[in-house]
Amino acid sequence: MQQPRRTPLINVMISAVRKAGGGLRRAFIEVEKLQVSKKGPADYVSEADHRAESTLFSELQTARPNYGFLMEESGELSGKDSSNRWIIDPLDGTLNFLHGIPHFAISVALERDKELFAGVIYDPISDQLFWAEKGNGAWLNGSRIRVSNRQKIADSLFATGIPFAGREGHKVFLAQLENVMSVSAGVRRFGSAALDLAYVAAGRYEGFWEQNLKFWDIAGGIVIVREAGGHISNFDGETVMKKGGDIIASNQILHESLKNLLDNTKNIAKS
Ligand code: IPD
Ligand code: CA
Ligand code: CA
Repeated sequence: MQQPRRTPLINVMISAVRKAGGGLRRAFIEVEKLQVSKKGPADYVSEADHRAESTLFSELQTARPNYGFLMEESGELSGKDSSNRWIIDPLDGTLNFLHGIPHFAISVALERDKELFAGVIYDPISDQLFWAEKGNGAWLNGSRIRVSNRQKIADSLFATGIPFAGREGHKVFLAQLENVMSVSAGVRRFGSAALDLAYVAAGRYEGFWEQNLKFWDIAGGIVIVREAGGHISNFDGETVMKKGGDIIASNQILHESLKNLLDNTKNIAKS
């Protein structure tokens, strides 16, 4: 079995997400209890989210004092070293967390010289740690992962994100869903874009698509999918991902077919 090569950089990222993940795990147990309370768990969840982000921030800053940050909750912070920037989503799958559903993750990426270089996604409930560094393959805990090699859409399972209140693209989404569901084995909406990407990398889903994501939702997952041999693009087929937006992730074989299924929905007015 191939042994993982954990560089000092990956070790720094892993130790930060494990520490923040421990906090989320403890908070999640409280959240489950708060479901039935009068006040509900909303404030508690928001505190846990911010606490996870500050743990990540202090761990990463201690280890690499000059790197910059792009964080979901605290925004952008430039560092003395302008070529390295951490991109952080401290809790991806907040709605699941809030509702006591154990499917959420921390996502941390490192962007180096404007390119995504390393990514770590940690599900603290199942203790699944997905990680990758450019050129070193993609890993789940200590095992190498690769995208699935299913070749037919009809045999394939896809994941997606459904736009909700306040988001654009409802009609486009319905058309995309109709196209994909009518020819594939199935479509899932599990509620964490970071884990959706990690699952594509692990060969669990053949593909994933979603509109209007933020860079912190996908930055870590992009590196992991690419290093697992998968393909990433937006709906136009552009593969250079420097910010958020629409995304398609899949194994190489099915990418074009999935893109085509999603493509012919473009004329539908955004709503
Ligand atoms: C959300 C999750 C969800 C996706 C949403 C994101 P958050 O991130 O990734 O799966 O559908 O678009 O906003 O708010 O839980 O960090
Ligand atoms: Ca997110
Ligand atoms: Ca979040």
